[in-house]
Amino acid sequence: MYRIAPSILSANFAELGKEINAVIDSGADIIHFDVMDNHYVPNLTIGPLVCEAIRPLTDAIIDVHLMVDPVDRIIPDFAKAGANIISFHPEASNHIDRTISLIKEQGCKAGMVFNPATPLYYLDHVLDKLDLVLIMSVNPGFGGQSFIPEALNKLRAVRKRIDAAGKDIMLEIDGGVKIDNIAEIARAGADTFVAGSAIYNAGKDSDPHRYDSVISALRAELAKV
Ligand code: DX5
Ligand code: ZN
Repeated sequence: MYRIAPSILSANFAELGKEINAVIDSGADIIHFDVMDNHYVPNLTIGPLVCEAIRPLTDAIIDVHLMVDPVDRIIPDFAKAGANIISFHPEASNHIDRTISLIKEQGCKAGMVFNPATPLYYLDHVLDKLDLVLIMSVNPGFGGQSFIPEALNKLRAVRKRIDAAGKDIMLEIDGGVKIDNIAEIARAGADTFVAGSAIYNAGKDSDPHRYDSVISALRAELAKV
């Protein structure tokens, strides 16, 4: 089962509510919510207030990707704001096991995120506690970058580890996902696909913005896998 997770980073923020309803109405499964702090990454985006504002619009999973250092202090705020999944970068936590516990104590699913050059050994003692592993296929901070092919090897390695653990852990890919590479990414083991610019740029010339055809095209590619 494959899940499509539009990243609202590429949405029109002046009409964020409409942009979220439009992707959900077009068949997206998850709202991917990119939080950047101008410290861990060189960009600044949205926080818990925006998460709280969009929560009533949809029953879909809100998947909060924290690109924030330090990370622990902000986790309860996102849980209260209605996040379903909270993911963090291990470099942004001094105590990784504690951060995972904190996310779960707040009633959310916990994800760990790997930058392109972050080694997978951070999974060694905590994989069983995770609900999601997110592999970055770009360096975090911006939408619209090109997919780094080495991420495919990383996906294959994580897929083996998840299957060996026998746990229901989502394997998500984030960065440069497009219609022409999503099938290859699925073959490497991903089951959840973040796409920002590929989805939101495809609908921006229609009025109102429509995303049915791009989401159908992504699903048609996945059906070939
Ligand atoms: C990058 C973010 C991504 C980004 C993906 O730091 O984590 O979620 O929005 O954008 P695209 O799909 O345009 O690469
Ligand atoms: Zn992201």
